[in-house]
Amino acid sequence: MDIGIIYNLADDLLKGGELDRLADGEVLDTAQAVKVALERNGHRVGIHNVCRDGLAVLAQYGALFNLAESTVGSAVTEDAIAEKLEEMGLIFTGAGSVALRKCANKAWTKALLISQDIPTPRYQIVRSEGETVTGLEYPLIVKPVGEDGSIGIDDDSVVWDERGLERKVMQILRMYRQPALVEEFIDGREINAALIGNGEDARVLPLSEIIFPADEGRPRILSFAAEWLAGSYAYLNTGSRCPADLDARSEAAIKAIAIRACRVVGCSDYARVDMRLRGDTPYVLEVNPNPCINPQDSGFIASARVAGFSYAEIVDEILACALARGRAEARQSAPACHGALLPAEVAG
Ligand SMILES: Nc1ncnc2c1ncn2[C@@H]1O[C@H](COP(=O)(O)OP(=O)(O)O)[C@@H](O)[C@H]1O
Ligand SMILES: [Mg+2]
Repeated sequence: MDIGIIYNLADDLLKGGELDRLADGEVLDTAQAVKVALERNGHRVGIHNVCRDGLAVLAQYGALFNLAESTVGSAVTEDAIAEKLEEMGLIFTGAGSVALRKCANKAWTKALLISQDIPTPRYQIVRSEGETVTGLEYPLIVKPVGEDGSIGIDDDSVVWDERGLERKVMQILRMYRQPALVEEFIDGREINAALIGNGEDARVLPLSEIIFPADEGRPRILSFAAEWLAGSYAYLNTGSRCPADLDARSEAAIKAIAIRACRVVGCSDYARVDMRLRGDTPYVLEVNPNPCINPQDSGFIASARVAGFSYAEIVDEILACALARGRAEARQSAPACHGALLPAEVAG
């Protein structure tokens, strides 16, 4: 089959800082790795930066492997790209435009989770400087409401008083040009759940735990430095363990919450849910549709490997999920059925 791999990367920097580009550039390595995997599986493959190549060129492909994300440099958002692909009637891997839009806004995701009684830390959105935060218990964590990849998150993001809160909120508002999400800080174990498949076939791959350095002076968070600044203390001393050491009951509870969280936002094919444990309760921090599948250092691929998939096999599995949705759609001659995980009553 002819498969197009697409990604989104612009030369400019519309928000954030120069270092944030580290999080964006990673997609190039992933695109290459996916290309090699797909070719190994017998496909003919092209790679396109939609910022540079546009979308018309994509019509030649039987299916698209969608690695496009919203980046700090590009004004083109991932949901807008997916929406165009849907309008063009193309089959593409991962979530549809509606799910991408919901998850790109952490507050929207949280509202949906709460509507289904899925635990998520209590929060408030701050849209302007001077707005007061009420009813939340310190310590709090302050994040940009619509970024990913730990962009905008550093040790100062965890705040213990009003002064720290105001300073961080101001930085997010000014630098990232978007509201700040102020959330209660859950100082518990951090678990990632990687999901593959749709509908009744959706399953959670072995759970993974983030292992933080035993440095009492710093907050235990996956900061930007921990994710991207090779050589930094946080990067060198933060790791992960898969499978996570959990008793059978906790594991089952976490997996059930992860599946429900993906359903409520309407992910397709593959996803990753980031959670923190308080006592036995898993709190959902965010849902990542189309999570990072970098072969070297992504949590999703680490989980897939523990489940027995090679890189080429999991890439093929993601594509197979998208093609199966595409076939089901053609049978029903209905518009895109992205959101296959989503129960009809909350399809929105
Ligand atoms: N409410 C919270 N309590 C504890 N840690 C948090 C909380 N929110 C975020 N974090 C930390 O910050 C990291 C990044 O936050 P997350 O919401 O997953 O955003 P991103 O989209 O950047 O990954 C998490 O992996 C976790 O370590
Ligand atoms: Mg996260």
